[in-house]
Amino acid sequence: MCGIVGYAGKNEARLVLLEGLKRLEYRGYDSAGIAILGDGIIVKKAVGKIRELESKIDGVNLSGNLGIAHTRWATHGQPSEANAHPHSDCTGKIWVVHNGIIENYQTLKKWLEERGHVFKSETDTEVVPHLLEEFYEGSITKALQRVVKMLQGAYGLAVLHQDEPQKLIAVRYGSPLVIGLGDGETIVASDVSAIIRYTKQVIYLNDGEIAEINSSGLKILDFDFNEINREAQKIEWDVSQAEKNGFSHFMLKEIFEQPKTISDSIRGRLVIKDGKVKLGGLDNVIDKIRSIEKIIIVGCGTARNAGSIGEYMLEEYAGVATEVEYASEFRYRKPVLDNKTAIIAISQSGETADTLAAVKEGKEKNILTLGVVNVVGSTIARTTDAGVYNHIGPEISVASTKAFTSQVAILALITILFGRQRNLSLAVGKRIEEELLILPDKIESITRQSEKIKKIAEKYCHFNNFIYLGRKYNQPVAAEGALKLKEISYIHTEGLPTGEMKHGSISLIDKNFPCLCIAPQDSVYEKNVSNIEEIKARSGKVIAITTEGNDQLNKLVDDVIFIPKTLEMLTPILSVIPLQLFAYHVAALRGCDIDKPRNLAKSVTVE
Ligand code: F6R
Repeated sequence: MCGIVGYAGKNEARLVLLEGLKRLEYRGYDSAGIAILGDGIIVKKAVGKIRELESKIDGVNLSGNLGIAHTRWATHGQPSEANAHPHSDCTGKIWVVHNGIIENYQTLKKWLEERGHVFKSETDTEVVPHLLEEFYEGSITKALQRVVKMLQGAYGLAVLHQDEPQKLIAVRYGSPLVIGLGDGETIVASDVSAIIRYTKQVIYLNDGEIAEINSSGLKILDFDFNEINREAQKIEWDVSQAEKNGFSHFMLKEIFEQPKTISDSIRGRLVIKDGKVKLGGLDNVIDKIRSIEKIIIVGCGTARNAGSIGEYMLEEYAGVATEVEYASEFRYRKPVLDNKTAIIAISQSGETADTLAAVKEGKEKNILTLGVVNVVGSTIARTTDAGVYNHIGPEISVASTKAFTSQVAILALITILFGRQRNLSLAVGKRIEEELLILPDKIESITRQSEKIKKIAEKYCHFNNFIYLGRKYNQPVAAEGALKLKEISYIHTEGLPTGEMKHGSISLIDKNFPCLCIAPQDSVYEKNVSNIEEIKARSGKVIAITTEGNDQLNKLVDDVIFIPKTLEMLTPILSVIPLQLFAYHVAALRGCDIDKPRNLAKSVTVE
């Protein structure tokens, strides 16, 4: 969603803040703004990407050692300079940047207007500086401690007051904030990627904590003025992982990273001789897992698609009843839960509001909650009872790729863990692990086909509708491939279970409505071929993904992409790669802004 960065230290705040905003731009990018406290406060805002803000401040004297900045993804009010952050009170002395939502802002705004406050934006955020003005009596920290008790919703805030020129205040309630402790400088941000260039020592704020940052250091307080001691943690990844390294887009870089990220996800976790896995993050709940009879997987978008593959794996190999739920729906159902149920929450960012709400619902019902999360120290990672990290480094592209394949690989490990506690044999556990080990080379053989897939993309990039079809393990891959194409190219796509097509959607098929059929030589191959015949009989164009060496489809379909053979349960890790590349090339050919698709944000921290 939005990104926040704040700086207090010995260097020019402007440089660190702009650099931080660029790192955070993938989170939201419809407008941006900066406030620097030097000789007075100077504020600049611009609609559009960070480069618009940069050109606006080019030549402006923005000198000062303290500042806050923000990149916005609109929730309340159109993208405009007036709605861009930072926002101010009536005096223009208090400035605030905010990530999240103030749910009761209308009530607060009405109350403030009755007291004479004049609002300049349509945002929910603007109530915060006005409330601070209302309660300010010489200490912005004390004013904030009063104001947070009036706010409902989720927020990460960074605040400046012109009359307290050495102080930067940050507060977290439901929206992530991390503080980097550098050499003579402190940086606060909504995401570590804005910090790693300067320091790897960080402190994650918890909900209900205020950080008071000044030149002599950092003080963490709770909402009742108690001081909290917190050790700094070391970030394990470095700045080069957040760079494009010669690729034209982060998405392409991350697609090509997948041989490595699959290795990183499984490294040190396979005990091949015993057909078992070692997942340290689950050690503390290993006995509880033994008693689990039902699993509910929750996630959103790509993470949910990975979860649907987990459902097939866990039922087939671990024999545990599993269902997959849209995280955004979970709390509106009345799921039947008992102490033999576990939730597995899947989230790359670990901050997705809907997934977090599902986890909290599970905790409320006192059931075991497990996480499959990439971002270390993120809210979902810390809220779940136990979990497994992906260890794939930062995923910057808004369209998720390497997180998906890693999530599927981790779900395979979890399946082995659950399975070996139940009826899965040593031999089958071992077989899955041996196959996981050689997947990276197989992925590489697909990424090497990028140019061939680009040629296919050239043939199809002008179509405005696509159907993606897959069965069994590849049914969620069809959904994922369709999601990838639609989100970055704005082409209308549908991802369906192949067998569903004849129950209605087949009426769409004609020569202008191509189908992407995932049909590896697996247990449902013959059935897929029959469905492809049905499409061809209606003059539909078909691109098929099938197994290397299968020359049967060449004659039937328009284009074929080959993937190496693997275990049926692991095919999604391979079959999704051509779909990621196809989506990438189509979007590139259509001139789309691939890493920053319109209307989207990387981590959706609002409901
Ligand atoms: C699609 C995409 C989204 C995310 C979803 C969940 O490419 O990235 O669908 O998968 O917003 O995000 P996380 O995994 O961070 O919870």
